[in-house]
Amino acid sequence: MSGLKDLLITEMQDLLHAEGQLLKALPKMAQAANHPKLKEAFEKHLVQTQGQVERLQQAFQLLGAEAKGKPCRAMQGLIEEGEETISEGKSKDEIAADLALITAAQKVEHYEIAGYGTVRTIARHIGAFDVAAQFSHTLGEEEAADHLLTEVAKPLVQQMAQADMEYAMKR
Ligand SMILES: [Fe+2]
Repeated sequence: MSGLKDLLITEMQDLLHAEGQLLKALPKMAQAANHPKLKEAFEKHLVQTQGQVERLQQAFQLLGAEAKGKPCRAMQGLIEEGEETISEGKSKDEIAADLALITAAQKVEHYEIAGYGTVRTIARHIGAFDVAAQFSHTLGEEEAADHLLTEVAKPLVQQMAQADMEYAMKR
């Protein structure tokens, strides 16, 4: 096995484990979300994540490697922080809680975008273009999910800024 192919498989194992953890975390995030659009964004991404796991499994198959995960401590940490955000959100107002949840979710998306970008680059370098195409598909979904979260956050930030201003004027 080439050094690059080894590296590719290792990074894919990390992503497989990361996605597996996310499959368990996303329903909790959807449940914790207050705004219906945020809830919907998490539910939509849960369905996408199931497809991403399947795509990863196909990529392992195309490379003739076993589809097994390697504990991804980075995602573990991000999800722990997300869980903290969920419990802290219970004592916050709905908008503040949602914005904190969006922050946690976008950190997850950015981790995945970094990971899939890396595996796509390596796959192209070793000529595994079919595998690279799978990752392009997933990367597009992760970027769209990140963008959607930004769009959901915008009016919430506006509302919070408005509330801050009203509060300051009353003092
Ligand atoms: Fe993902």
